[in-house]
Amino acid sequence: MKKIVVAIDGYSSSGKSTMARELARRVGYVYVDSGAMYRAVTLYALEHGMIENGKVDRERLAAALPGISITFEPAGADGVQHTLLNGRDVEREIRDMQVSENVSRVAEIPEVRERLVRIQQEYGVRKGIVMDGRDIGTTVFPDAEMKVFVDASPEERARRRLLELEQKGEKVNYEEVLDNIRTRDRIDTTRAVSPLRKADDAHVLDNDHMTHREQSEWLLNLFHTIVNEK
Ligand code: DC
Repeated sequence: MKKIVVAIDGYSSSGKSTMARELARRVGYVYVDSGAMYRAVTLYALEHGMIENGKVDRERLAAALPGISITFEPAGADGVQHTLLNGRDVEREIRDMQVSENVSRVAEIPEVRERLVRIQQEYGVRKGIVMDGRDIGTTVFPDAEMKVFVDASPEERARRRLLELEQKGEKVNYEEVLDNIRTRDRIDTTRAVSPLRKADDAHVLDNDHMTHREQSEWLLNLFHTIVNEK
């Protein structure tokens, strides 16, 4: 069967990673979480003192980029793909609040985007890939055969994110999480380089009132329709 590229974009905590991962598993494609790559660069910048009071030292970070390697380790016993920063498993650290609070500022740096987009495009060369992020259907793979834009209200996304963080034992409150989501939405949609925007040919999935299962089925149906039309 002919392989395609699937691009899934949307707001933070819209549930796009979960459904993208699930689709990849069900159809035997490679899954790439592009947000994890921006998060790993952010962790690197934090660990090397390149971020102070939310301000990123763009020059130092840009100069350090060639020495930053981000790879993925296939899902192990826990069923989750792990992100490696220069060979070190950082899957847990890149999801904490400190990284979440700073990642949008790192993701708006043109040098960072340029480098990560190039790595992401290499993953797509052989097709058979599902990638999720903010600019996958617009910038990384403008020719992707299947594009999806996931939408959900900030309140619903904050509720889901809070649950996720609580399960990990992090102490945060709803207002704090909602505030973080609103700030990230604003930065993601208004930045100069590759802002979050629906590609003209993307299929919209508004998942405020959908269960995980319904979303997965919707995605799989769309995938089969598109592959069969090819
Ligand atoms: O999907 P996520 O919340 O893990 O993404 C983390 C941040 O990375 C998010 O604030 C925006 C940024 N990002 C981006 O700018 N472009 C992408 N393709 C993916 C993520």
